[in-house]
Amino acid sequence: MNRQPSWIAPSILSANFACLGEEINNVLSAGADIIHFDVMDNHYVPNLTIGPLVLESLRKSGIDSTMDVHLMVKPVDRLIGDFLEAGADIISVHPESTEHLHRTLSLIREGGAQAGIVFNPATPLGVLGEVIDLVDLVLIMSVNPGFGGQAFIPQSLNKLADARSIIDSQDRPVRLEIDGGIKAANIADAAAAGADTFVAGSAIFGSDDYAATIAEMRAALRTVA
Ligand code: DX5
Ligand code: ZN
Repeated sequence: MNRQPSWIAPSILSANFACLGEEINNVLSAGADIIHFDVMDNHYVPNLTIGPLVLESLRKSGIDSTMDVHLMVKPVDRLIGDFLEAGADIISVHPESTEHLHRTLSLIREGGAQAGIVFNPATPLGVLGEVIDLVDLVLIMSVNPGFGGQAFIPQSLNKLADARSIIDSQDRPVRLEIDGGIKAANIADAAAAGADTFVAGSAIFGSDDYAATIAEMRAALRTVA
């Protein structure tokens, strides 16, 4: 086992973009561990969000938290350098978004960031064994990527458990992240299946009290051995 301390990662997809910096500072003060930054291109996924300029502006405004950049763009390689320069700490990519996954993950690592690989609900874990040495984080999608506020797909728990076994066969730390439909009511199930990093967008930003919601999630996580 190389389970890492639990991290709660609010997805800014559900934040108020009119005051994004303030929203991020608020959620960090409320106890968030890292910030999940969803990048969508209306091509790989049917939605359009934000790019490296926004990340750069957030950094310039003084936000120094860990930025967990989830790239849902195709092609992906050209944007990696931009996100590295903008201040990404973790950059995750979907195997379907690149012709040469090994090269893409290497680009992220060589640029000094941690590399993540993302599996959609219908994507098998097959390639993980081929590139596990190049990844610092495995992200299991528990919704189809593109939108916040969707329902958690329960079969994702099996995939989490399978990914956990592969990670545990490594002798170095690799995080296991879950993304989509996570809330206080199901976060413990994801933890029990092996997740240590929990993305939550609508559950946190849609709540009236970010600190209370994050505290409720942490309390649920404490129930998992
Ligand atoms: C979906 C994104 C998620 C999304 C999660 O494509 O990758 O990060 O923001 O939102 P919730 O937590 O509302 O399902
Ligand atoms: Zn995401």
